[in-house]
Amino acid sequence: MSLDLHLWCGFSHWAGKPGDEMPTSAAEAISKIKEWHASSKPFLTKEAIRDINRQINQNPKKGDKISVVGLDGVRVDFDVETGKTFPQQRDKEYVVGRPCIQFYAVQHLEDEFKWNDDLHRAYCNMRISHLASIRYMRSKEPASGYKSEPKESAIQRFEKNIKAWEESDHCRQVMATLAAAYIPQDVDKIVGFACGTMALAAGVPEQRASAFQHALLLTLRSLLEKTRGSSDKDIACYAQDPIYTSSDSDALEAYQIKIVDDPDGFLIVDDSSILLSCSPNIPVKQIVTELARPAILIWNKVYPEVEGDDFARTDPDSSRVREMIFNHYDELPFPSSDDFFNMAIYVRRASLV
Ligand SMILES: C[S@@+](CC[C@H](N)C(=O)[O-])C[C@H]1O[C@@H](n2cnc3c(N)ncnc32)[C@H](O)[C@@H]1O
Repeated sequence: MSLDLHLWCGFSHWAGKPGDEMPTSAAEAISKIKEWHASSKPFLTKEAIRDINRQINQNPKKGDKISVVGLDGVRVDFDVETGKTFPQQRDKEYVVGRPCIQFYAVQHLEDEFKWNDDLHRAYCNMRISHLASIRYMRSKEPASGYKSEPKESAIQRFEKNIKAWEESDHCRQVMATLAAAYIPQDVDKIVGFACGTMALAAGVPEQRASAFQHALLLTLRSLLEKTRGSSDKDIACYAQDPIYTSSDSDALEAYQIKIVDDPDGFLIVDDSSILLSCSPNIPVKQIVTELARPAILIWNKVYPEVEGDDFARTDPDSSRVREMIFNHYDELPFPSSDDFFNMAIYVRRASLV
């Protein structure tokens, strides 16, 4: 069984205007990226994400192109390859689905050159990829290990896990920490990223981790509602993970957790948010650092710079992430467990508001 989300990135083409220039070597591109990153140049804006998202939402077909503007201001066109198939093992095939944005951490832009020398897209920290899946060639049925179950049973399973989470010492410790933390009055939403799918066989560790992470979203909502007076039901709760199945939607909808498409969660996050993200496969920290200063961040612990190891991680810290966290947030403990790996709670200091 694979828990991986498959992504397929196809061909792209430099589409600069007269006078625009492509980098001439990997060394030149890396040096420029480092220079820009050390400056105050924005690496992402909501406007740029919206522009790409608008093109994706027009449902482009195979052969169409999606334009992305790189950090140098030059356009690169990515081929839409939806519908392509490739044989996979003996009786299966790999199917390229709808396009999506693939965000690159600053380290990954550099790292790319170890694998290829695609200089024309060296400055694109948003690239067009496609969600892909594996299916049986003959029946066209999906070949995934996800468990599809009736709505009632998906809801009941989640309910049981919520109870187990709420009764855990872990939950009590997290809530005690948060109850003593400063939470600004204007916090009106909770956004969870990469909480994973709960549609896995009972007993698979990732199933409980996912259920507990979603249950934490609910606990956060109750805490906010309690501290504001019980009548306040205006705390919205969102969750973004492209891996969600229909069983996940059944369970989450029953608890008023609204599933949002990628990248809408990033467009929703603002300074009045509480954000949860545990071991995402995408650079959530770097994306959010560019877009907002949420009131509370519950995500993987941020460390002082360690040479080298950041490259291997999917959600690496960066100098910008460290600047934001160490200068503008207070760190509170989040007990580590198999369900929440190496997390911390970061509370925005009042001075930043
Ligand atoms: C290593 S798993 C972690 C799952 C879970 N949080 C845990 O701790 O077990 C990485 C998760 O990132 C999710 N992910 C990948 N791309 C994403 C995106 N664009 N937005 C949100 N989540 C994403 C994957 O689907 C997967 O559920």
